[in-house]
Amino acid sequence: MTSASAPGKIILFGEHAVVYGRPALAAPVMQVHTNVDISNSARPGVWIESPNIGLQAELNSLPSDHPIASVINRLFSHWRVSPLPNLEIKITSTIPVAAGLGSGAAVTVALLRALSLHLNRPMTDKEINALAFEIEKLHHGTPSGIDNTVITYAKPVYFVKGRPIETFIVGAPFTVVIADTGISARTKESVGDVRKLWESDKTKWEEVFDEIGDISKRARRAIESGRIRELGELMNRNHILLRELTVSSIELDTLVSAAREAGALGAKLSGGGRGGNMVALTEPDLAEAVSGSLREAGAKNVIVTRVRSWISSSLN
Ligand code: MEV
Repeated sequence: MTSASAPGKIILFGEHAVVYGRPALAAPVMQVHTNVDISNSARPGVWIESPNIGLQAELNSLPSDHPIASVINRLFSHWRVSPLPNLEIKITSTIPVAAGLGSGAAVTVALLRALSLHLNRPMTDKEINALAFEIEKLHHGTPSGIDNTVITYAKPVYFVKGRPIETFIVGAPFTVVIADTGISARTKESVGDVRKLWESDKTKWEEVFDEIGDISKRARRAIESGRIRELGELMNRNHILLRELTVSSIELDTLVSAAREAGALGAKLSGGGRGGNMVALTEPDLAEAVSGSLREAGAKNVIVTRVRSWISSSLN
């Protein structure tokens, strides 16, 4: 049997504006991940089992635009594999779906990696990332590529669409609390709505994107020199701009306020918005109190993580 996995991700700064060429900062979240196990099979066909989404099917019985089928078909046609081998593929994930933590990109990356290992056709991270971006484009309309990049490389990234991957140094590791509204929201929809907004008044929204891009640049400098308090203020301002972009929600705003009232240095929604997760920056000794307040304010799940150079790891 061959196994591969991919982590979740959190966008720290710059979501949505990143689709329009501005920089964004993201980090992997190692506490949640997708795992793919592949074994050869005696029964004919490529059998896929994914208990999280109630899927048990043979590849050819799935519609060609099915997210999992499209990854496998794309890879097999890329390699010109024919006839297809007989395989059992099992996909399990602890990353909540449609919550802004990159569940779709993690399935794609883990699946590509497992297939490449199992069929003994080695792929570099660069190749996996490029193919994962193609798949993201099939399902998300106009993605920036940040999700597949941070998930493929599993390290903090300073991301500008179309530019080679750039990681950043974390001068002093910092603690973030990630809380889930429990409301699922498709990134494709919020990205599409922001596009409509932008098309209605490009001058106005380009200025908002400029300010968000500027926040990402300042946040990178603050992170590199360990100025964590400044980071909190930047998060708060970034959240106001995301609200202007109409991608927040009552539930996200409630969690953001609860985190700040419990002593977080700053907080904002994270990812596509409208539902899904928010992120709060906190001193490590306040992480428990902030987590408790977030739960009281309605968070369905809370993750505490440290962001450091190369990896982000659990505190617990
Ligand atoms: C989604 O995690 C981040 C967005 O900026 C979309 C994208 O960059 O593709 C909302």
